[in-house]
Amino acid sequence: MHILIRSKKEYIKSLVRVNHAGEYGAKRIYEGQLSVLSKRLGSSDATLSEVQHMKEQELEHLKYFEDLMIKKGVRPTFFHKVWHVGAFCMGFVSAALGKGAAMACTSAVEEVIDEHYKDQVAILKSINENELADTIENFRLEELEHKRIGDSYASIGVIQAGVKVIARFVTKAAISISKRV
Ligand SMILES: [Fe+2]
Ligand SMILES: [Fe+2]
Repeated sequence: MHILIRSKKEYIKSLVRVNHAGEYGAKRIYEGQLSVLSKRLGSSDATLSEVQHMKEQELEHLKYFEDLMIKKGVRPTFFHKVWHVGAFCMGFVSAALGKGAAMACTSAVEEVIDEHYKDQVAILKSINENELADTIENFRLEELEHKRIGDSYASIGVIQAGVKVIARFVTKAAISISKRV
């Protein structure tokens, strides 16, 4: 566990940076998806409002980590600009492949984020950072809701399966990089 080899302060800084990167990436994924879906679907379409709803929640998560970043003097990841473009592209391409593929992307990303937040909550509780732990736990529950929405579109197909594998891989890589730099 990182906390054993690093000071608590350093751990929290790394946590804020990676979570900020993740929530920013989530916002950009949904923006990429909405850029396709808003043209393709009618404004009263249920999928469109589901994606918009998820994006609204991501904006709240992002705001929280942005504020915390300023408070704790944490700089964004060096890869911020890469995530800015990359996450948008991931959203754009997945939605271009269809609603099911867009939702498969969400499901895979949130599956990884669920584990990521679960680990953080356990560590934060062990070092008595209970307020931060509770906030992240609330975010985790919202990410799980996103996963459930994504899973409700699941079907057996090569495209959805492929999107999931790629989205999982990219999310894990982005987390691992943003934790370090
Ligand atoms: Fe989020
Ligand atoms: Fe999410």
